[in-house]
Amino acid sequence: MLAQTGPWKAAEDAIDPALVPQRRLQSGALMPAVGLGTYGSDHVPHDAVAAAVKVAAEIGYRHFDCASVYGNENQIGNSFDVLFQAGLDRKEIWVTSKLWNDKHGEDDVIASCEKSLADLRLQYLDLYLVHWPFPNHHPPHCDVSARNLDAVPYLHENYMRTWRKMEELVDRGLVRHIGTSNMTIPKMKLLLRDARIKPVVNQMELHPYFQQPEFFAFLQANGIEAVGYSPVGSPARPERDRTPEDLAPIEDPVIRSIARRLGVHPAVVCLKWAVQRGQSPIPFSTNREHMLANLRGVTTDPLTAEEMMAIEKIDRNCRLIKGQVFLWKENQSWEDLWDMNGEITPP
Ligand SMILES: NC(=O)c1ccc[n+]([C@@H]2O[C@H](COP(=O)([O-])OP(=O)(O)OC[C@H]3O[C@@H](n4cnc5c(N)ncnc54)[C@H](OP(=O)(O)O)[C@@H]3O)[C@@H](O)[C@H]2O)c1
Repeated sequence: MLAQTGPWKAAEDAIDPALVPQRRLQSGALMPAVGLGTYGSDHVPHDAVAAAVKVAAEIGYRHFDCASVYGNENQIGNSFDVLFQAGLDRKEIWVTSKLWNDKHGEDDVIASCEKSLADLRLQYLDLYLVHWPFPNHHPPHCDVSARNLDAVPYLHENYMRTWRKMEELVDRGLVRHIGTSNMTIPKMKLLLRDARIKPVVNQMELHPYFQQPEFFAFLQANGIEAVGYSPVGSPARPERDRTPEDLAPIEDPVIRSIARRLGVHPAVVCLKWAVQRGQSPIPFSTNREHMLANLRGVTTDPLTAEEMMAIEKIDRNCRLIKGQVFLWKENQSWEDLWDMNGEITPP
């Protein structure tokens, strides 16, 4: 039986949200272990993403990953409004939004969250993330070579000033939880040392070709849920986010052979692996059949232990979303953003 309230009606072929695995966060709250991504990679119109959110809710999704920078929170808010008016209970869905890089200033954090709430037509967010640990703004759609002349490296004192405002959002009841995104182990250690309210989630790139085993284990050891973005390898990401070295996990022979065994698309195998490994993927799609297959995939036919081990072995340490636009001086490479030698890259 599908959990339903009021006149709200799930689709005939919907997946029962009660069957979708849940993650219990440090707070005790439950978060659905799969969510719908809403970043249209610059080419999917905002209305199409908003329409997908409504369809996703009708077929059983209860977790939505939003962000102010995706530019579509107002349209997604329309979809939430329609769903709530039809009787979907706000408490049944998990909504994440994110603070963009040009809003790290102490006077901007609360206003930015309030704007996302107004756009999304919500009284509170379940989770609010600092989208990137760098305040370096760059114009939408800009080339990876674009640099902000005022760009700065990661400065922990500054990040903590932003984080204090994130904590205030919890105190004020505007958000239930706060978290991070695109962090590294050394940055996270400092935050855990200094935070009054600790992050419950770190959102990070995670797929079979970029498993981040050390960071993933660190997060698990610290009770922080790893939410995985680009979980099927972001096949439609913008041209500026592609380099010749990039590899596609959905083309891997191991993934494809498991997909053949199960009669599903390789994307579904990536999602099954993610949920079984213990992370929470947030695949993007505007295609109803894909959305349904993805949700069905995480509720049926678990991968065998041998398949899980085989996927562990195909990790290529292949980061797709490199973040070049956040670099703060000339002659740097994207690796400088990711503290590759275990220490925060010096200014
Ligand atoms: N925190 C951050 O900095 C950050 C960065 C990047 C992304 N994100 C979040 O993570 C979400 C997902 O990442 P992403 O959009 O980069 O990549 P993704 O989810 O790995 O890939 C999305 C693409 O995969 C296709 N797809 C999904 N399921 C499929 C299926 N069953 N069969 C065939 N194709 C399928 C979709 O096409 P169709 O529409 O045709 O199904 C879409 O083009 C974003 O939307 C955003 O919410 C966060």
